[in-house]
Amino acid sequence: MIYAIILAAGKGSRAALKINKVLFAFEKKSILGYSIESFVDQVDGIVVVHQPKEKQAILEELKEHQLLEKISLFVQGGETRQESVYNALKQLPQKVEKVLIHDGARPFVSKKLIKNIVSSLKIYQGVVPALPLKDTIKKIDEKGYVDKTLFREELIAAQTPQGFNKNLLIKAYQKGEKEGFIATDDASLVENLGEKVFTVEGEETNIKITTPQDFDIAWSILNKTKNFIANRHTGPKVRIGQGYDVHRLVENRKLILLGVEVPHTKGLLGHSDADVGTHALIDALLGAAALGDIGTLFPDNQEKFKNISSLLLLEEVVEIIHQKGYEIGNIDITFIAQAPKLAPYKTAMAEKIQKVLNISLEDINIKATTTENLGFEGEGKGITAQAVAILYKNQ
Ligand code: CTP
Ligand code: MG
Repeated sequence: MIYAIILAAGKGSRAALKINKVLFAFEKKSILGYSIESFVDQVDGIVVVHQPKEKQAILEELKEHQLLEKISLFVQGGETRQESVYNALKQLPQKVEKVLIHDGARPFVSKKLIKNIVSSLKIYQGVVPALPLKDTIKKIDEKGYVDKTLFREELIAAQTPQGFNKNLLIKAYQKGEKEGFIATDDASLVENLGEKVFTVEGEETNIKITTPQDFDIAWSILNKTKNFIANRHTGPKVRIGQGYDVHRLVENRKLILLGVEVPHTKGLLGHSDADVGTHALIDALLGAAALGDIGTLFPDNQEKFKNISSLLLLEEVVEIIHQKGYEIGNIDITFIAQAPKLAPYKTAMAEKIQKVLNISLEDINIKATTTENLGFEGEGKGITAQAVAILYKNQ
């Protein structure tokens, strides 16, 4: 059985608020409330360590956020963090084998990190989240002179929750008490026993709210999380479109499909180069963007479009789509033709349109099928192309 001990019995003096910092609320929920919430469903029981005079306020707040029923035990804190933890350890039920100690002032600990600590505890008897340091750390003397520079690669910043085998941690606290050993985290007491503590990767956002500036940082972390959650629900705006086109096969015309000249006895008839695949693709893209169809954009009575390469029209459509704020997700094109065999030209076709669409080759699929000699395609009278396209817009 595993319990979490959440510490809230400090004074928050460095935060310089009129109240204990862990009771400060962001959007109606206290820092302590956020901290507790992260542990719900991750452990078998939660212990809250508090100052006696704040118990009532904590009870009311937790009740409001349906967190009260998740708390197994309330314990009075001591003068120091170390005393507060020790008080809680002494009151843990017998059946508890493992404990996580967490600063109530770290509201942004993720469930993922908690899970990682819990599962590491199956192997190790002590586990702490750790982050590499960004600053160079120096030891100074009492006059403020640098004594020496520590080797940064060997240093880490320890966070909470720190997880331990309960009996080991109690032993560590007993030894600490006997020796008057003052520790700023729980792992140091275990290290003082000569026992090994393992590290797992901590989180940049798992800050301990300590000084007034930390409240601004906390706000930005909270808003980022909110945006993330909002985006997860709505996701990017995704739109789909389909296109369909047919051209007649006639003699004395080139057969151009997706910008590639395919050798054949006949070619497609049309005002432009009659590239049926590109036309279907253009219609799929315009359809997804709700911009009508190829005929509205490029009327076939206009001289300037006569025999024009349809890839140039596609280029124009891609630009319009980008101007509307859309990105192309993926496209899928199917040719329906009895002859010629199109398989050998698929790669060349994909490469041609990839350059125009500016998406990866993985997002382009080209297929071809016959109709078993049925219908006009089967009789070799014409070629059909169908296309679907996905557009998206990050909101
Ligand atoms: N804590 C505690 N009992 C204490 C002191 C601290 O339970 N006697 C808790 C705090 O509530 C906090 C955590 O330990 O969640 C980490 O301590 P810290 O950030 O130092 O908080 P405070 O001691 O409250 O702040 P300060 O040192 O600025 O007064
Ligand atoms: Mg303190």
